[in-house]
Amino acid sequence: FKIPTPYNEPVLSYAPGSGERTQLKAALTEARSKQIEVPMYIGGEKVLTDRKVALRPPHDHQHILGYYSQGSKEHVTQAINAALAAKAKWEDLAWEQRAAIFLKAADLIAGPYRAKLNAATMLGQSKSAYQAEIDSACEIIDFLRFNVAYMTEIYSQQVDSAKGVWNRIEQRPLEGFVFALTPFNFTAIAGNLPTSAALMGNVVVWKPANTQIYAANVLMEVFREAGVPDGVINLVYVSGPDAGDVIFKHPDFAGIHFTGSTEVFQNIWKEIGNNIHRYKTYPRIVGETGGKDFILVHGSADVDVANTALVRGAFEYQGQKCSAASRAYIAKSIWPSVKELMVKDIASFKIGPVENFENFINAVIDEKSFDKLAKYIDNAKADPNVEILAGGTYDKSKGYFINPTVIVAKDPKYVTMCEELFGPVLTIFVYDDAQFDETLKLIDTTSIYALTGAVIAQDRYAIDQATHALRNAAGNFYINDKCTGAVVGQQPFGGARGSGTNDKAGSMINLLRWVSPRTIKETF
Ligand code: SER
Repeated sequence: FKIPTPYNEPVLSYAPGSGERTQLKAALTEARSKQIEVPMYIGGEKVLTDRKVALRPPHDHQHILGYYSQGSKEHVTQAINAALAAKAKWEDLAWEQRAAIFLKAADLIAGPYRAKLNAATMLGQSKSAYQAEIDSACEIIDFLRFNVAYMTEIYSQQVDSAKGVWNRIEQRPLEGFVFALTPFNFTAIAGNLPTSAALMGNVVVWKPANTQIYAANVLMEVFREAGVPDGVINLVYVSGPDAGDVIFKHPDFAGIHFTGSTEVFQNIWKEIGNNIHRYKTYPRIVGETGGKDFILVHGSADVDVANTALVRGAFEYQGQKCSAASRAYIAKSIWPSVKELMVKDIASFKIGPVENFENFINAVIDEKSFDKLAKYIDNAKADPNVEILAGGTYDKSKGYFINPTVIVAKDPKYVTMCEELFGPVLTIFVYDDAQFDETLKLIDTTSIYALTGAVIAQDRYAIDQATHALRNAAGNFYINDKCTGAVVGQQPFGGARGSGTNDKAGSMINLLRWVSPRTIKETF
């Protein structure tokens, strides 16, 4: 078999008057016109419970999109049983049949489900139309198509044989089930974590973030329509402790595919360690966690390039990408011009609900996040050693709106230069041009995370020096670009240190974690 050559799904513009804009507006109106009942999916059955939880857009407290059914430990057990019951047939299915299912899922999202999935991401996660398009439509399509191609490469890799001997490598699925624990900020990641493991022949229990359930439900509709058999991917809405208590004590737990906070991941790792004696096999632990991503602007930088990288990197999707720029180091010689452009740009940003496509900044995800950000901002406002260059205000009366905020800190170790905030707050430290070497060292030594980073410079020696000095400070390093927006198939994504296991989402490296190879030697 030869599968279709994967390609990146073209990003639609949603320009005024375009057909895609009309379709998306209609999907938003349709979604807002009704309140849906969101079931769990266990063994192909839709499961409802009496514990209904309202789903509200983060930008509109008054509206209810629907209700999801909160599950319990019992549902987790049922989901594991359903997964294990589906395992034998699923792993024996020829790989090209699995490929067909996920290629069809990609086409369904590219076509009939595109507007519905984008609308769900916009309303459920307060993501702008353009950000939803690159995330929930294009990126998940890319994950599905490229992963199918990587799978075929993995299955075709073979070993040498000698005379009278035939050696083979058989890529088996893991012995047990995989737990996919997915985040709110990217619908594409929520879709990729269960499907990449399932594509390699594994069965999955999937628990999305509560704040992403509305779009997760649409993904599940797609997977079912594409032909994912009952029980292969089971979707449950349960609390973290309820899921953990059952899953991490189960002898058939074979791996976790995680994106979320560093703290949760570390707790999971400990929990797995505590239960290691129970498992049939050492579980695969794959996680992408926090970030405190940086942009370094050298004195030789193009000012426009620097400004675009800073404002887009820091404020697109309200700074809630794990890759978002949240600290910047800017050379003193260039700072006045960068500052002028940034202040002008930020002042022009429109803020408000996603339904108005002109709004560049929408709401942050929930009250917890809003309150945390508001506290950091208040502390900064009260601190004489920092200056608030832009923003510094917030309002949760209608939705969780935080104005894009720029803090300039005299101390490069000021709290918002070090801690992960996960919101539209960028902290800047202005360094002396003569201190470039020291600044590189400072960035590296203060990078407890190592997800993304960027250097903006025209001087090739500076680019080379930064690329080398910061080699361990970012798993995705950008030169003269923002530090967000990795494209599947082009910039495999992930980082080390406190940012995760660096198993690069959307790559062969990642898919290899979901197989357990068997070597077979036959002698003639
Ligand atoms: N892949 C996303 C980005 O690069 C983050 O998950 O922005």
